[in-house]
Order: sequence, then structure tokens, then C-alpha cells
Amino acid sequence: MKQAFLFLFLFLSLLMGSLVVFKIATIQADTTNTQESTSETIKTPFAEGCNKCHGDEDAYKEWTQAGHSHALVNLLEGPYEVKTSCLSCHSSGYTLFAERGIPGHPYNEKTAVNAVACSSCHSHASKEEHLLVVPANKLCISCHKMDCGCAGAGIVHQSQAEMFLGREGAGVKRMPSPHVRAMKKRCVHCHMAKNEPKKDGQETVAKHGGHTFKADFSTCGSAGCHDSVDNDMATKLPLYRAEIEAKMKEVKTMLDNAADNTSQAYKDAKLNYDMVKGDSGYGLHNIPYARALLEHSLSLKPQLTFAKDQ
Ligand code: HEC
Ligand code: HEC
Ligand code: HEC
Ligand code: HEC
Ligand code: HEC
Repeated sequence: MKQAFLFLFLFLSLLMGSLVVFKIATIQADTTNTQESTSETIKTPFAEGCNKCHGDEDAYKEWTQAGHSHALVNLLEGPYEVKTSCLSCHSSGYTLFAERGIPGHPYNEKTAVNAVACSSCHSHASKEEHLLVVPANKLCISCHKMDCGCAGAGIVHQSQAEMFLGREGAGVKRMPSPHVRAMKKRCVHCHMAKNEPKKDGQETVAKHGGHTFKADFSTCGSAGCHDSVDNDMATKLPLYRAEIEAKMKEVKTMLDNAADNTSQAYKDAKLNYDMVKGDSGYGLHNIPYARALLEHSLSLKPQLTFAKDQ
């Protein structure tokens, strides 16, 4: 009997204790939520701190110059309605704080502090090469893909992954870019290649490649892939571009003049157009696929309805 009482007493005090802790956690959560993102207390939940040790390295300096380091600002100041889920690609810290949920540290568009920072791609706990969070060939496509419903239903935000892998378009068979087989690290191969000569043997922060993630057409000629002497890409690319842009114009005129934008034919034609546009503006990552997508859109013309005078 005495034992049972002791047990009940212990149980009740434990329950009370946890209720108090829970209450404190909620209060903290509430107060943090209402503070501005500039506040120091908000910064502490996720101070990445990589710069303490890596701040002098090229990787860090390059990153500060390029798009990924502006991803949060561009999201918040951009033209679309911002939801917390946008942070999954636009801010490192989201996965840790919002998805796993750390009590007292809500991570949302008001409290977010990180752009696409080092820890979006690296972790000292990783066993991958260069401490990447996922292997290089899977890394970029985890964010540069269109299936996020980001900018609102039916708006293709970006489509580099789908275009490069040649999939998800309407009415066209799978058609991966030849580069998928040729480049083990996929996007990294072109976008992180460093071809700039070092000036006077000095370490230089690259304008292309490395952690700027900017591709440079000089990559085409390196490793003997495309003729680097007369650089056949320098003559071919403008021709491809002109061809794709002309087809895009034709599809756009067709879509603009369509009277009914609810039919499946219209949606398919628009999806293909948006995919090419969301890639780089002109389907650069897979020209044959871009061509096939736009041709399919044009083939749907007889199924679209147009105002009488068209
Ligand atoms: C965590 C998500 C994420 C990952 C992983 C990611 N990106 Fe990005 N990337 C973004 C976002 C968001 C932007 C848009 C930044 C902005 O606002 O301009 C972007 C922008 C870019 C740009 C345009 C840069 C500029 O200066 O305008 C390039 C090129 C790019 N990424 C290449 C890559 C490559 C290559 C990889 C793989 C090594 C990669 N990205 C991995 C999210 C990601
Ligand atoms: C699946 C990952 C992902 C999600 C989720 C995501 N974005 Fe993005 N966003 C990107 C990438 C990658 C880029 C860079 C695209 C490029 O440079 O071609 C980008 C670029 C942008 C840009 C700058 C370029 C532009 O299109 O104007 C804005 C603004 C933006 N995103 C807003 C949003 C908003 C708002 C949301 C949520 C509703 C969102 N994003 C959700 C990956 C994502
Ligand atoms: C968008 C993804 C991404 C982001 C963000 C990123 N890295 Fe990297 N990083 C990579 C990839 C991919 C490699 C491997 C490149 C390769 O295999 O050629 C790499 C390689 C490295 C390396 C070793 C090779 C080198 O280039 O020096 C260091 C060091 C490094 N990163 C540090 C950083 C630091 C510090 C930050 C934050 C400023 C950062 N990275 C941000 C993707 C990223
Ligand atoms: C206390 C100092 C310290 C901090 C903080 C730190 N690192 Fe490191 N990091 C190191 C050291 C030391 C190495 C090993 C250096 C080497 O072997 O070249 C390393 C190695 C790495 C590498 C591998 C580079 C390569 O050549 O493959 C990457 C990537 C990296 N760190 C990323 C990060 C990121 C991302 C953060 C922040 C989340 C971070 N580090 C924070 C000290 C630090
Ligand atoms: C064969 C080389 C190559 C491969 C592979 C490649 N890209 Fe590109 N990418 C380029 C070139 C070249 C540009 C155009 C750069 C320019 O216009 O200056 C570009 C443009 C882009 C842009 C637009 C950059 C901007 O400044 O707006 C993004 C984003 C991008 N690539 C992401 C990716 C992703 C993600 C992958 C992998 C799915 C990938 N790329 C694979 C060469 C490549």
C-alpha cells in the first residue's frame, strides 16, 4: 500500500514537471515568433559558424558572391506569395528547425536567417566525399526541380533537373541529355569546374565555377569533349538558341490567343513551354528535349479553341 502511494506520488510529480516544461517551451515559442528576424535572439538558434574556420577559403568567398547566398532575400522580396515550405529550398536550417521541430525555435519566413548556406550541402557528420549531405550527382537536383508547386499551382518555378534528365514533359518520351551519362557528377561537372587561370600564381576567387556555381562555356572544350580549337560550341550554341527561342515565340503566341485555357491540350502545351522557359530561358540543358517539347505543344494546336476572328 505504502509503495503504491509512493508510486502515484512520483508519477504525479513527473506529470506536473513535464507540464511546466511544456508550458515554458510554448511561451518561448510564442515570444520568438513575434520578434523580428533582425533580433539577436533569433540568430542564435541557427548560427552556422562555418566561416569561423572556413572563412578564408575560396569556397566561402566565392559563395558570398553568388546566387545561393542571396536565396533568402530574393525569396522574401520576390514576386510570389511566400509560404514556410518555400524555405525547404531557399534557406538552410529549415530541415533541422521546422521539419524535425526543435521546441522554442520555430523556423519560418519571419525567423529564418540562412540563405542556401554551407550546411545545405555539407555536414561534418557526413561520410560522403567533401562531406556532402548527399552524393554530388543527387545534390543539385534536390532543389533545382519543378515539382514543388512553389510559385502557385501550375507555375513552373525552375526545371533544370527535369530538362537535364529529360522527363516530366507532356506527350514526349524520356530523353536524357547525353551529358547525364558523360558526367558522373552531373550539374557539378559544369557548374563547379574551375578553368580560370590563376593570376601570378596567386589564389584568385573565381568568377565562374567553384562555389559561385556559375557555368562557363569554356567547360565545353575542356577534357577534349568539344573541339576547343575552333570551339564548335561557340558557333553551334547561338544557332540552337535562336531555333529554340523562335519555337518558344510560336508556342507563346498560340497560348496567348487560345480562348479556353482549361482544356488538357492547353495545359499540356503550356507545361512544355514553361519547362523550357524555367530551365535557363531557352532549354539549354537539353536542346533535343526542348525541341521535342515545343514541337509537341505546337502539334496540339488543332485541339485548342481560338476566338472566331483568329
Ligand atoms: C538547398 C537547395 C539548393 C541546392 C541543394 C542547390 N541549389 Fe542552386 N539555387 C537554389 C536557390 C533557392 C537558388 C536561387 C537563388 C536566388 O535567389 O537567386 C539557386 C540558384 C542557383 C543558380 C543561379 C545562381 C546565380 O548566381 O544567380 C545556379 C547556377 C545554381 N543554383 C546551381 C546549383 C548547383 C550546380 C547545385 C549543386 C551543386 C545547386 N545549385 C544546389 C537552391 C539550391
Ligand atoms: C524545390 C525547391 C524550391 C522550393 C520549394 C521553392 N523554390 Fe524558389 N527557387 C528554387 C530554385 C532552385 C531557384 C533558382 C532557379 C533558377 O535560378 O533558375 C529559385 C528561385 C526563386 C526566386 C528567384 C527567381 C524567380 O523565379 O523569380 C524566387 C522569387 C523564388 N524562388 C520564390 C519562391 C517561393 C515564393 C517559394 C514558395 C512558394 C519557393 N520559391 C519555393 C527552388 C525552390
Ligand atoms: C549548393 C551546394 C553547396 C553549398 C551551398 C556549398 N558547397 Fe562546398 N561543395 C559543394 C560540392 C558539390 C563540392 C564538391 C565539388 C566537387 O566534387 O568537385 C564542394 C566542395 C567543397 C570543399 C572542398 C573543395 C573546394 O572547393 O575547396 C570545401 C572546402 C567546401 N565545399 C566548403 C564549403 C563552404 C565553407 C561553404 C559555405 C560557404 C560551402 N562549401 C557551400 C557544394 C556546396
Ligand atoms: C572548428 C573549426 C571548423 C568549423 C566551425 C567547421 N569546420 Fe569544416 N573543417 C574543419 C577542418 C579542420 C577540416 C579538415 C580540413 C582538411 O582536411 O582540409 C574541415 C573540413 C571540411 C570540409 C571538407 C573539405 C574537403 O576538402 O573536402 C568541408 C566541406 C567542411 N569542412 C564544411 C564545413 C561546414 C559546412 C561547416 C559549418 C556547418 C564547417 N565545415 C565548420 C574545421 C571546421
Ligand atoms: C553541360 C554543362 C552543364 C550541365 C551538365 C548543367 N549546366 Fe546548368 N548551365 C550551363 C550553362 C553553360 C549555363 C548558362 C550560363 C550562362 O548563361 O552564362 C547554365 C545555366 C544554368 C542555370 C541558370 C543560371 C543563371 O544564372 O540564371 C541554372 C540554375 C543551372 N544551369 C542549373 C543546373 C542544374 C541544377 C544542373 C543539373 C541538373 C545543370 N545546371 C547542369 C551548363 C550546364
